[in-house]
Amino acid sequence: MSPNHNSPTPLDPTQAADLQQRAVAVAHNAYAPYSNFRVGAAVLLTDGNIVTGCNVENASYRLTVCAEQAAIAAAVGLHGPAIRIRAIAVANLNNTASQPCGACRQTIHEFSAPDTVVFFPAQGGTTAEATIAALLPAAFLLTNS
Ligand code: THU
Repeated sequence: MSPNHNSPTPLDPTQAADLQQRAVAVAHNAYAPYSNFRVGAAVLLTDGNIVTGCNVENASYRLTVCAEQAAIAAAVGLHGPAIRIRAIAVANLNNTASQPCGACRQTIHEFSAPDTVVFFPAQGGTTAEATIAALLPAAFLLTNS
């Protein structure tokens, strides 16, 4: 039977907690003077490396870089273009439920398998998890026709 990618392949709970803690920690470095919404992301690569990033805003608002995109760009810079994402944790310091935006889903998808796990803040301070396939079931793919 083929795997059901709406059910995440579970991460070791200790590893998941560590990833979430790193996302919270890096959120303290966020540059978010316009929204005051401070976000951190921690990416666990399939080779075990972990890379973090935070959101970086700009007076020209649309130039803002989300935490997920910052973390993934840093991961490519540190470890090269062949990186693959096992899981990514996203956190904010605003005690707010928040799912990754659409653009970040597409960025995560670029380096993911369908069962790559995404952790994000949910209601009441809990953490939700979903596969990238569930969050972005119809990603843009550049195909040569
Ligand atoms: N933001 C992220 O960094 N990641 C998300 O998943 C949601 C939104 C940032 C962008 C902007 O700096 C602020 O949060 C408010 O939208």
